[in-house]
Amino acid sequence: MKTTDLHTTEQQDTNTSVVFKCRGKDYSKEPLCLSGRGVTREFHTGKITTVAVDHVDFDFHKGELISIVGESGSGKTTLSKMLLGLLDMTEGEILFQGKPRDISTGAKKQEYWKGIQAIFQDPFSSYNQFHKIDEVLLDCINMRGGKKLSKQEKTDMMTEACSFVNLKFAELTNKYPFELSGGQMQRLMIARIFLLKPNILLADEPTSMIDACSRATILEMLLKLRDDTGMTVIFITHDIGLAYYISDTVYIMEHGRFVESGTPDDVMLNPKNPYTKRLISDVPKLREPWYLSTVVYNNEM
Ligand SMILES: Nc1ncnc2c1ncn2[C@@H]1O[C@H](COP(=O)(O)OP(=O)(O)OP(=O)(O)O)[C@@H](O)[C@H]1O
Ligand SMILES: [Mg+2]
Repeated sequence: MKTTDLHTTEQQDTNTSVVFKCRGKDYSKEPLCLSGRGVTREFHTGKITTVAVDHVDFDFHKGELISIVGESGSGKTTLSKMLLGLLDMTEGEILFQGKPRDISTGAKKQEYWKGIQAIFQDPFSSYNQFHKIDEVLLDCINMRGGKKLSKQEKTDMMTEACSFVNLKFAELTNKYPFELSGGQMQRLMIARIFLLKPNILLADEPTSMIDACSRATILEMLLKLRDDTGMTVIFITHDIGLAYYISDTVYIMEHGRFVESGTPDDVMLNPKNPYTKRLISDVPKLREPWYLSTVVYNNEM
């Protein structure tokens, strides 16, 4: 049994004497990491136009944990793909570290991806199944300029990355990703991020395929990585309760627009937008005690 602490600040619920915690640290004075102005994406299918992302503005800061919350179809993944440079914008501008982002050539894209990395909903589709796990991790070391390191140094780095996510490198070497469980694959994705150390991590529903206990472990690893490296984490989720629990800043997305944003307390304890109110009403126990702060470590998730 190990106690995990996902939080930096605590609040005492005087009625029940139960401690519940939230983050909500103000990062507005930190340097800008990623900003967007009027970011828009339309899809045209025959005569039908879908505005998946509709003129959104945002400022994400160094070290901030941002949750983007919205129901299915609200445009979260479309926005993620534009942030990653995997999908063109129809309109708008994205700024990276305060300057207009330039990903106009393959080389510039590669350079951009050193600064922003993602983990996705479905770990199975995130790996090239023909590449062994060693190659997956070696690629990360090479991407970070470690090509010339000795074999031993590379093995040490891979061992450290695996042990950060409670995996044993010696047991994974020479295996293929499909030989791992879903939870192990999720953790391997975090081991990749540990090696890549991007400025920004975009996590699109990274815990949706795993059970609640493993989910807490994965979240704890992500938060520890954020605390250790100061990376910005953009967490995409439909789960407003989880967003309340882990975020510094929350953006609520409806029909491609940000309808409300602020600290978890501002947005969820004092919601102004009817859509936010409806999302919250679907989480009946938001104000009641949370017991996620104690989880059992399970290496076989
Ligand atoms: N390639 C595409 N072509 C046409 N329409 C698309 C395409 N990709 C997304 N859409 C539409 O854009 C809208 C937003 O989709 P998106 O996948 O961004 O939503 P989401 O918030 O990520 O949903 P979920 O929570 O289900 O993952 C939806 O109406 C979807 O049908
Ligand atoms: Mg999605």
